[in-house]
Amino acid sequence: DAPRPLAGRHALVTSGPTHEAIDPVRYIANRSSGKQGHAVAAALAALGARVTLVSGPVRLTDPAGVTVVPVETAAEMLAACRAALPADIFVAAAAVADWRVDGAAEQKLKKDGGGPPALRLAENPDILATLSAPGPERPALVIGFAAETNDVQTYARAKRQRKGCDWIVANDVSPATGTFGGDRNSVHVIRADGQEDIWTDLPKTEVAARLATAIVDHFGNGKI
Ligand code: C5P
Repeated sequence: DAPRPLAGRHALVTSGPTHEAIDPVRYIANRSSGKQGHAVAAALAALGARVTLVSGPVRLTDPAGVTVVPVETAAEMLAACRAALPADIFVAAAAVADWRVDGAAEQKLKKDGGGPPALRLAENPDILATLSAPGPERPALVIGFAAETNDVQTYARAKRQRKGCDWIVANDVSPATGTFGGDRNSVHVIRADGQEDIWTDLPKTEVAARLATAIVDHFGNGKI
């Protein structure tokens, strides 16, 4: 039998984009495919963790042995994450929309000749920062992702501190890298204790497997 060093652990993972309604038929979205987050959920489940995967709209099959909670908006994603706590491990891999439409229309907006509507945006909750905040329900290990197009390490180090998470997995998503929607990734793993690992040009499944192994090591090979 395969070793199950994360048996008895609950891992909560977010994945995919969020969709923020403009009206009943239109929404704001982003280019996240969910491939990396889903791969992390699968890798943690493969090592024996009980995994709850809170996912925005994606075109992916549910990973085997994982409980998937489908959501659309950032607000729904935060509520689903809160409902899934407590967790030992939280991995925030979702590309959560920073803004939603303030007061989305309840009926389809019409081209009425009055010109295009102005959309007023409101800030979404930061799920990673919320779940990183100290408190009895804070997961023991909180890992965020950071998609940057330049100065990846510098921005990612600052982001880890700002969010209050333990590790940040930072990737370069400048268009030339093909990371968004692609099957490969290059990442910097940045930790609170200063340790940094660089994993270059790997399949997203291999990035997930390495991250899962690093999580096992962090918990001392499954020992509580
Ligand atoms: O601030 P930024 O979006 O670059 O941070 C990325 C990290 O924060 C990712 O781990 C993402 O899942 C998380 N995040 C979140 N809620 C938000 C925005 C980002 O959980 N509203």
